[in-house]
Order: sequence, then C-alpha cells, then structure tokens
Amino acid sequence: MSHPVTAVFQPATVALLADVEKRLLAQAASRDARLASWTAQSLSAGGKRVRPLLLLTAFEACGGTSLGPTAQHDAVDSAVALELVHTASLVHDDIMDDASERRGKPSIVAAHGRDGAILVGDYLFTQAFALAATLPKEAMAITADACRRLCEGQLREQELLASGKPDRDAYVAVIRDKTAALLAAGCAIGATMARAPDATVQALSRYGDAIGHAFQVLDDLLDVAGDPAWTGKPAGTDFVAGTMTSPYLNFLERGGRLPARRDPAGFATVREQLFESGAVAASQLEASAYTQAALLELAVLPASPARDSLEKLAELLMERAA
Ligand code: IPE
Ligand code: IPE
Ligand code: MG
Ligand code: MG
Repeated sequence: MSHPVTAVFQPATVALLADVEKRLLAQAASRDARLASWTAQSLSAGGKRVRPLLLLTAFEACGGTSLGPTAQHDAVDSAVALELVHTASLVHDDIMDDASERRGKPSIVAAHGRDGAILVGDYLFTQAFALAATLPKEAMAITADACRRLCEGQLREQELLASGKPDRDAYVAVIRDKTAALLAAGCAIGATMARAPDATVQALSRYGDAIGHAFQVLDDLLDVAGDPAWTGKPAGTDFVAGTMTSPYLNFLERGGRLPARRDPAGFATVREQLFESGAVAASQLEASAYTQAALLELAVLPASPARDSLEKLAELLMERAA
C-alpha cells in the first residue's frame, strides 16, 4: 500500500494504530536476548498491518471509539493479538515454503535457521494467546477460531500440492481458511468490541472474508506478475513449488500446458504465456469480483467517514496488483 494511512483512515484509527504498533513491539520481550531480537525482527520488518487496520476501522465504523477507554484498549490489544498470529503464521509459512525473503529482508528461517524460525513462530503464537486471554471472551474465541482455520488451510494446501492436481474448489477453500479467516476475524472482532448488533458483526465478517479472498488471489497474481523489488518477496515461487494458484488454474482452463519440470529457469517463459493467454487478466477479474462482493456488505453500516475508509481499504488492496 503506497498511500500514507492518514490519507485513507480516520484520525482516531491512526491514533489507535500507533498504539498497536507500540504494544506489538513490546510483545517481543523475552528473558532470552536472541529470541527477543529475532522476534522483534519479525515484527518490525515492515508489514502492512492490514488486519489491525481492518479491526480498528470496523471498530470505528460501528461507533466503538465513542465507547471510552476500556473498549478502545480491548480493540487495540485484539489487533495486536491478531497481528502476532499473522506474523507467526508467516514465519512458519516461510519454513514450509522454503522462502528466503519476506518483507524485502531475509526471512527468519533464512536468517536464523529452521529451529530459530520454529521457535520465533511459537513465541509469537504464545504471546498472541497470552494477550487474547486478557480480552473479552468473544475476541479470544474469534482469534482462536481463525487460528485453527489458518492451520487447517495451510495443511490442506500441502495436500493439494502433493496431489499435483489442479482443483479450483479446493483452492478457494484453502484461501478461505489460510488467509480470509484472519481478515474476517479482524472485522468481526472490531465490530464485536464496538458492541455492534449480531447482523452487523456477520456482515462485516463476510466483508473481511471477501476481501481476504481478493487479497490472496492478488498475492498469487503478484507471485507471477509482481516486481520483487516492490513486493519484497521473490517471484515464481508458486511455479517452482508446483502450487496451483489462481493464474495457473486460469491458464490450464484456457488450454495452457505447464512444463512437468518446475525449473526456475523456465519461469520467464511460463510468465509470458500466463499474460498472453489472458490468465493474468482473469485472475485480476476474480479479485475484483471478490472486492465488489465485499463492498456490498458495507450497506449494513450507517454512512460515516469510517465506513468510507473500509470502502477505500478494499479498493486500495486491489491497487497492489495494478
Ligand atoms: C501475506 O500477508 C500473506 C498472505 C496472506 C497473502 P500480508 O501481505 O498482509 O503480509 P505483511 O504483513 O504485509 O507482510
Ligand atoms: C499465505 O500463503 C501465508 C499464510 C496464510 C500463512 P502464501 O504462502 O501464499 O503467502 P506468501 O506469498 O508466502 O506471503
Ligand atoms: Mg504458503
Ligand atoms: Mg509462502
């Protein structure tokens, strides 16, 4: 996201986000200096903070900021817990995906080895749930459920990969669990901490789920079409691993053929074919359809600057692939 957050979010949200940042970095503290430093490294490497932003904006759009300091404190700490879970999942994901770079820097596994990365991820999960345990039970329950789904989605992705078969329904189910669950959780927690009615919590959760789908499709598109200097992650990793993401599924559905050997040197040719066949454009359309579906859910909210921010956030996430 190239826009400064102040151009999109309300001043109250920006102020709460600054609290999230402070509280987040404080969670890296450990009796072990190396663990503290590696954990801090994973947290301060420059994430976009999408999940905290969603949570805080949903909170504000549901009138949460007028509820006073306790509700605001709960919103901030649940945003911290969610970002801790997200960062933990990325640290472990880079072990599973054998990824050398994250956020433009060496991944934790590349910098500190497999055991170091397992422990940093474990530490982040532990800190997340230690914090969530101090929050209203709904925040804890939603966070835990999203975390369960994340694990289930990540494991099913491995199964899908091992099967070697393209399967669109399975792909959509995987991204719903591994990615959309956490974005939906952010929205649902924000609305719940603002004491919104159940129908609003559900609608915002569906909004988060839909932009989560768009977000992962774009992420998969960027793995094909993105500039690593800008994404902070190398391109072509899905091709080399054999992961059948949206652009590859669209390519196969258009009669394209992928080489049996996933040689990194073959990626440039495949990339060109993905563009020429219209597979890349089809993935862009897919992401944009999810975004449109997300925007429809916002009708449940009264008009407000924070509702506009949720709208802009959905559109901003789309610009990642423009
Ligand atoms: C990366 O998430 C993993 C996906 C779910 C696509 P983000 O793109 O939100 O990662 P950071 O936190 O900004 O690095
Ligand atoms: C998203 O999957 C990671 C998680 C949900 C933990 P990917 O493996 O596609 O994400 P990147 O591309 O490594 O960020
Ligand atoms: Mg992965
Ligand atoms: Mg990965």
